[in-house]
Amino acid sequence: MDNRPIGVFDSGLGGLTAVKQLEQVLPGESIVYFGDTGRVPYGSRGKDTILRYAKQDMAFLLSQNVKAVLAACGTVSSVARSVGEALSVPFIDVIGPSAKAAAAATKNGRIGVIGTAATIQSDSYRSALLRINHKFEVFPQACPLFVPLVESGFVAPQDEVTRLVAERYLAPIRAAGVDTLILGCTHYPIIAPTIAGVMGKGVTLIDSGREAALATAEALKAQGLLSQEGAPRQVGYYVTDTPENFMNVAELFLGHSVEGRTQRIDIESYPT
Ligand code: DGL
Repeated sequence: MDNRPIGVFDSGLGGLTAVKQLEQVLPGESIVYFGDTGRVPYGSRGKDTILRYAKQDMAFLLSQNVKAVLAACGTVSSVARSVGEALSVPFIDVIGPSAKAAAAATKNGRIGVIGTAATIQSDSYRSALLRINHKFEVFPQACPLFVPLVESGFVAPQDEVTRLVAERYLAPIRAAGVDTLILGCTHYPIIAPTIAGVMGKGVTLIDSGREAALATAEALKAQGLLSQEGAPRQVGYYVTDTPENFMNVAELFLGHSVEGRTQRIDIESYPT
């Protein structure tokens, strides 16, 4: 038993897709969420910068005495996994769990992967999928405009701008006849209804935040690290820019308010 919080982080709002799932499967657990809203996006930056940011993000979470770290960010999982693997607490990323879920879902072996430029360049999802079954055909596509759209609150299923962008990005993947699509950036499940509408029926969407949260729950159970039943529960949100926009989109997505529990921190004061 371990009553310390689970640490979850992302460059911004995307990791809330993991928090939403954690709240469902582990309702008794405390969570510290960190969203680097002042430095988002990570996915269009170089490896050195992503590594530096990831080190600071994880240093912040460790300073909050977390019992495990979930990198709810496809970009960090793809580029800076080594930083997480060197931690003194269990580390979970989004790549393996999402690849496993996609492998279980596909019938025709044709799998699409969408993510940030850094994630797609790293080939992380394709490698993980081919390790599971080398006969899979993988169709990757970077979708760099999705993150700023989500961070700016263009998330409603009826939002025309987001739909047009999705149509442009997803056309080649749809034409490839995939039956499964990994939403390889954790921001993308927030606009899953739009993506599903463009992909059409018959394509299973894999939510990387959700899959990583399920993997975290399994890891904590397996290692005897769940909180004691009835232990006091706290969920805190930390961001690096003004909290207002984060709170608005978070409330829309999580279905409950995060006001009063969201505060701004200075991430640059944490070691790289
Ligand atoms: N949500 C993140 C990911 O899963 C990062 C998006 C970004 O900052 O570019 O890749």
